[in-house]
Amino acid sequence: MSGMVQNPLNVVPDKSDEQPAPNHVNGSNCTNGDADESSTKTSRFDPHFTDAVINATGPKANPRLRKVMASLTRHLHDFCRENEITVDEYMAGIDLINATGKWSDDKRNEGQLLSDIIGLESLVDEITYTLAGEAADAPTSTAILGPFWRKDAPKRKMGDSIVLKDMEGSDHTLMHGRVLDFNTGKPIDNAEIDIWHTAPNGLYEQQDPDQPDMNLRGRFFTGPDGEYSFYCLKPTSYPVPNDGPAGKLLEMLDRHPMRPAHIHFILTAEGYKPLTTQIFDKEDKHIDNDSVFAVKDSLVVDFLLKEGDSKAQYDLQYDFKLISYEAAKKGGVDGATQVAP
Ligand code: BEZ
Ligand code: FE
Repeated sequence: MSGMVQNPLNVVPDKSDEQPAPNHVNGSNCTNGDADESSTKTSRFDPHFTDAVINATGPKANPRLRKVMASLTRHLHDFCRENEITVDEYMAGIDLINATGKWSDDKRNEGQLLSDIIGLESLVDEITYTLAGEAADAPTSTAILGPFWRKDAPKRKMGDSIVLKDMEGSDHTLMHGRVLDFNTGKPIDNAEIDIWHTAPNGLYEQQDPDQPDMNLRGRFFTGPDGEYSFYCLKPTSYPVPNDGPAGKLLEMLDRHPMRPAHIHFILTAEGYKPLTTQIFDKEDKHIDNDSVFAVKDSLVVDFLLKEGDSKAQYDLQYDFKLISYEAAKKGGVDGATQVAP
């Protein structure tokens, strides 16, 4: 099966001159339809098959798992019927999944990358936090974790730099602000801010043997005033890893791999819902076409030129607003509490 890694989708026959089945675009709302052409087409196949598969689930299965798997099975079967997926196309999909697994290890999460380039992580993030986002003045918006977070980044003192190596051609930024309770506006004491971003060559330190371990990462803890500050680089846009199956899929879809310049954060504080997010540079040319669909307007920021600080050319002020579990419960804002695997 080694060939599949080079070209995981190479067995998909080109059906581009065939008439697409009506109603199949976007895959939405086209199952179990009335007497449209799609249902006429799908009704040629065994109408009892999907139910038989779903009903094989035994009585001891976890109820949530039963529900989710039944739905997944139904959607996947409908997808295959509607698109008349052939054995060759099915095998190309299986090869892609297998290749994705083979490319993954503790430094590379190709599965998450694959889901990111088709917008899945961003969609799940949106679903999880929709209620919070609908509030008139919302807490800081969430954004996807992505595959490059590392556990146990070093704890640093307030005002420290996360830049452990001289990085040629890069501008430094003083980022500072406060961590606040979204409802009361009060500062949050002992909030942890976990930060990571890429080097100017577009690589996270675990991808790059030339960077020191834990370069451009760090954890900072607020005091009673809720304030934080640290030095980092002004981030640069970079391509998501595109030498594996996810990159191959991007290329076949005629898409670019670029992410707009951003910095990642996870904020945690006792009694508050954890926040996984990113901020994005307004000036970046990819701000409107992120390859993983993670940009939200409220997370777009302006890096301002800074004078009088020998350690930084840019200044970025940003307040994070967290929602307490108590307020979340009262307001019905009930999102995920897990921030990381
Ligand atoms: C990232 O920003 O680190 C990232 C997110 C999704 C896919 C690849 C990289
Ligand atoms: Fe990133």
